Amino acid sequence: MIHDFIYDIPVRVYFGCDHLKHLGAELKKYGTRVLLTYGGGSIKRIGLYDRVVDEIRKAGLELFELSGIEPNPRIESVRRGAQMCKDHKIDVLLAVGGGSTIDATKFMAAGACVDFDPWDFLDVTKQAPVKRALPIVSILTLSATGSEMDTGGVISNPETQDKLGRLDPALLPKASFLDPTNTFTVSPYQTACGSADIMSHLIEVYFNMDQDLYMLDCFMEGMMKTVIRYAPVAMKEPDNYEARANLMWTSSWAINGFVNAGKRQAWSCHPMEHELSAIYDITHGLGLAILTPRWMEYCLDESTVSKYVQFGTNVFGVNPSLEPMEIAKKAISCMSDFFFNKLELKRTLPEAGIDRTHFAVMAKKSVGGGTLPGFKPLNQQDVENIYEMCMK
Ligand code: NZQ
Ligand code: ZN
Repeated sequence: MIHDFIYDIPVRVYFGCDHLKHLGAELKKYGTRVLLTYGGGSIKRIGLYDRVVDEIRKAGLELFELSGIEPNPRIESVRRGAQMCKDHKIDVLLAVGGGSTIDATKFMAAGACVDFDPWDFLDVTKQAPVKRALPIVSILTLSATGSEMDTGGVISNPETQDKLGRLDPALLPKASFLDPTNTFTVSPYQTACGSADIMSHLIEVYFNMDQDLYMLDCFMEGMMKTVIRYAPVAMKEPDNYEARANLMWTSSWAINGFVNAGKRQAWSCHPMEHELSAIYDITHGLGLAILTPRWMEYCLDESTVSKYVQFGTNVFGVNPSLEPMEIAKKAISCMSDFFFNKLELKRTLPEAGIDRTHFAVMAKKSVGGGTLPGFKPLNQQDVENIYEMCMK
């Protein structure tokens, strides 16, 4: 069925390479004390840090900084940031980086408004309400997660070996600067992982047996074709503006709430992948690329084949006159070819440094002790079987 929905994505997007001059005015709307957050230093190497600091100074704002946010950002960084916001009476946070920096900044902004540990927002046993967060502005440097335009964030806790996500409208950035030239320096590997992540965000929503809004399926097919077309170009020609711009805008729209409006949420590969990154700290998109074709294979049967036929023919151009099962198998092999040949990502868990040691515990956590209500409901044993399929 087509569920009722409210469409509300109030993020002001500055898309293109000549908008940084608006940064000062955008930040000033929220006050004068700015906490600039970033990761391991890529923004300094690409010259963006200097340009951002220059704009902040020109606007007469007071600058505070927090650096060192890890890929797969850790709760300790969030705690540090929340404390800084309180200590320095920060008015607005400016996240400059990829999804990890933006995600961590979202929970710093929420953590600044409460007296308890920000992990309580994520801890499944607590799920503390996110009633308020300080305003966030983001400058995106890696096309992947869509954090620049969505309500979510994912944080790792190495002590408990958890990696948990949370959605809340209060976490939405007020404005995001999307300049494709800021992604010219993203390595071919991170470009591939980011593209696999975008692809997965679409697949998680598209593979759904509910009767859906057909127009949204068409949008998603277009976005998947965009990733398939431009990711390999961006890997080979890092400063190809057209390729970077297409990936950037697709990353935002794949997960900003538009394509899943009216649909039952049915994500499967993300919960399975977050367990891999939680324990092995692997890149999110790599884990998704390894899992997705196996999950597709596992869920294929007479009751689901029609979705694979739609996907195979519309996205990969598989011959529609073939038998449905043959089309489905060809679609899965096109998906594998894209991830492992075109994007040159590792094909198996052992190649990514993962063995069977934690399969049972990861599977149990990913289904939350029950069933993962995805495209096809998966229990702990199903997830273990899918991990096992990724061994070779
Ligand atoms: O830390 P720095 O030095 O900035 O380097 C980063 C990092 O090493 C580097 N990088 C970023 N921009 C660059 C660059 N290197 C050169 N040039 C640039 N312009 O790339 C590395 C990876 O960065 P990261 O931010 O970790 O990548 P990504 O954007 O893929 O974010 C991944 C995180 O987001 C979560 C993932 O689970 C993972 O923790 N997700 C967030 C979601 C959301 N908010 O909705 C949804 C996703 O499904 C995902 O779970
Ligand atoms: Zn993702």
